[in-house]
Amino acid sequence: MSVTNRLKAVTGGITQVEADAVVNAANRSLLGGGGVDGAIHRAAGPELLEECRRLGGCETGDAKITKAYRLPARQVIHTVGPVWHGGDKGEADLLASCYRRALELARDHGCKSVAFPAISTGVYGYPKEEAARIAVRTAAAFLEGNALPEKVVFMGFDEETTMAYERELEALQ
Ligand code: APR
Repeated sequence: MSVTNRLKAVTGGITQVEADAVVNAANRSLLGGGGVDGAIHRAAGPELLEECRRLGGCETGDAKITKAYRLPARQVIHTVGPVWHGGDKGEADLLASCYRRALELARDHGCKSVAFPAISTGVYGYPKEEAARIAVRTAAAFLEGNALPEKVVFMGFDEETTMAYERELEALQ
């Protein structure tokens, strides 16, 4: 299957997605927060926070994996995106690293499908278009060299975000 057939963009909330793994846009403490982090912890239930407490945090650009508890997904991959500071503080490399590390964990844990929120584009202020370009190109490059995950879904929480993903997916064709 071609890489472009393994990538798609969908509008919706990530807590309802029945992917093998859903990715959480966390902070370095891994102890929950607002946005998608808050939504995932609310939906997964208190056991998720208990497991996260034992992980000892996560560096920006890195990712860690847990069970998903009451979520329909099987695993949660927590990654910590960069805060946007104008683009000259290595933000692009750190954001690409979030996608790469999350995909490595998904592959290593046998996940066939992974759903991503738009990491760093909310509270952390990363411009949506640039973030979508990094997300799509990093995922495409990873899938070129890896059979797993078979499918990657980019979840736009709003149409604007989903459109940004779709423009980048079009550009891959
Ligand atoms: N499902 C899917 N996407 C969502 C949801 C949801 N339920 N809620 C928010 N989003 C989208 C936002 O619209 C945005 O596009 O997730 C994207 C990421 O936004 P944030 O959740 O604010 O994450 P981020 O910008 O990476 O900031 C992370 O925010 O919640 C805190 O603890 C978190 O400190 C960390 C910071």
